[in-house]
Amino acid sequence: MTLSAAKPAVPEFHRFGEALRHHRRAAGLSQEQLAESADLSPRTISGWERGEKSIPRRDTFALLVRALGLGADERAALEALIPRKPRPVPRLLALAAPRMAATRHNLTRTLDSFVGRERDLTALGPVVGTAPLVTLVGPGGVGKTRLAQELARRQLGSYADGVWFVSLADTSDSTKVIETVASTLGVRVAHVQAVTEYLGSKHALLVLDNCEHVLGACADLLSALLHACPELHVLATSREALSIGGEIVWFVRPLDLPDPRAQSAAEITRSPAVRLFVERARGVNPRFTVTDDNAATIARVCATVDGIPLALELAAARTRALSVELVSERLDDGVHLLHGTTRGGSPRHQSIRATIDWSHDLLGEQEQILLRRLAVFHGGFSLEMAEDVCSGGRLQRAEVLNILAQLVEKSLVLLDARQPALEVRPTSRHAAPLGQYRLLGPIRQYALERLHASTEAAVLEARVRALESGFVLARAS
Ligand SMILES: Nc1ncnc2c1ncn2[C@@H]1O[C@H](COP(=O)(O)OP(=O)(O)OP(=O)(O)O)[C@@H](O)[C@H]1O
Ligand SMILES: [Mg+2]
Repeated sequence: MTLSAAKPAVPEFHRFGEALRHHRRAAGLSQEQLAESADLSPRTISGWERGEKSIPRRDTFALLVRALGLGADERAALEALIPRKPRPVPRLLALAAPRMAATRHNLTRTLDSFVGRERDLTALGPVVGTAPLVTLVGPGGVGKTRLAQELARRQLGSYADGVWFVSLADTSDSTKVIETVASTLGVRVAHVQAVTEYLGSKHALLVLDNCEHVLGACADLLSALLHACPELHVLATSREALSIGGEIVWFVRPLDLPDPRAQSAAEITRSPAVRLFVERARGVNPRFTVTDDNAATIARVCATVDGIPLALELAAARTRALSVELVSERLDDGVHLLHGTTRGGSPRHQSIRATIDWSHDLLGEQEQILLRRLAVFHGGFSLEMAEDVCSGGRLQRAEVLNILAQLVEKSLVLLDARQPALEVRPTSRHAAPLGQYRLLGPIRQYALERLHASTEAAVLEARVRALESGFVLARAS
């Protein structure tokens, strides 16, 4: 019988220290004796056994094995328990590592605060990460771009190949869309095939911002890219959905207003619309404060602009020179006040008029006619009311349904709050969802100016009065 055959089976160890202690005792050695025959200090042996000492080097390990009289298998098993040192990272890679861990992106830093939108962010985060295409749809200035930026920022780290923000706001025509996308991605050839090849199997998020004026070109490009690039995700913003298969549409609403009964400073500042107004007012006038005395007026300003962030910012900029009471009074007179003189940003956002002009210019003639006529309604209206009051001349009664549907599609008419925030496309583009419609405050004021500049106002107002008295009579009977 050989000596090794006489040894009892070695139990399975998970730690180097435990196995070392086992072999030392099996060899009948004390820590001191092992230390002496391996030419090591007893403290080193005891440290290894307790797992406190750093791992033995290759030459020290060889001495240990010889002193313990281990066979090849025991040696291999003990060696396998030596904790591995992390591999040294070559210097160049080590320098690149932090950048690789943090996703590559071209998002710019925003210097002012982001307000509210917790619901949108919570709901959209997982959808953007899984769906091929999510489009944020809503009226001008409602905060689509800002929300997309915030979402994209929160997705950094989820895309191995980067997050790329492409602004199409200044892209003058459809033929330039591919150029803009290619140059943002650093693809030299401005062609769909080149961009498709570049994106290939990359896991990336592409944010395509402000698609409404080049909608067809964006839809064609995205159809091609999303079919060919399985790991690509797109987050688009537009005043109108792209209407391509699989698109998930998220309707971006204005910021929530305070409860109309709220009177105190504490109550109104729970509303994100008020918070944005107050933060931007403080930006131009650090002494601006919300008190119980001005709370109702601030709430009224926010309600007049229907919680649209751009309009809130433009109104807040006026508090540099005007009291909030005056801002409120002047706002009632029309959209003139919402002309920013201090804001940076695109000319499209220098005034509410310019913002709505951008949408208005994209409308067909019949859509422009119906939009200005709808301003005659003070509050909400139904399809039937629109047909009764707004048809005539170049707009036949039978056409009102389709034209109204197009205005809803283009975010100029709002279907009331029952419209779900999330919708999976494609849906029929010409079936107006039925319900109560309304124009957002600034859009109505804009449309009203156009109505008064036309010759139609008096007739339409008379029709509305007749309709209203009809309602009263009907109810009374
Ligand atoms: N949640 C928010 N917090 C802070 N500021 C906001 C928020 N939403 C929008 N804003 C600000 O309101 C202004 C208009 O927002 P944004 O540009 O996102 O609108 P938009 O819907 O993309 O408009 P457009 O249709 O004209 O492109 C911007 O100055 C933006 O920074
Ligand atoms: Mg935008």
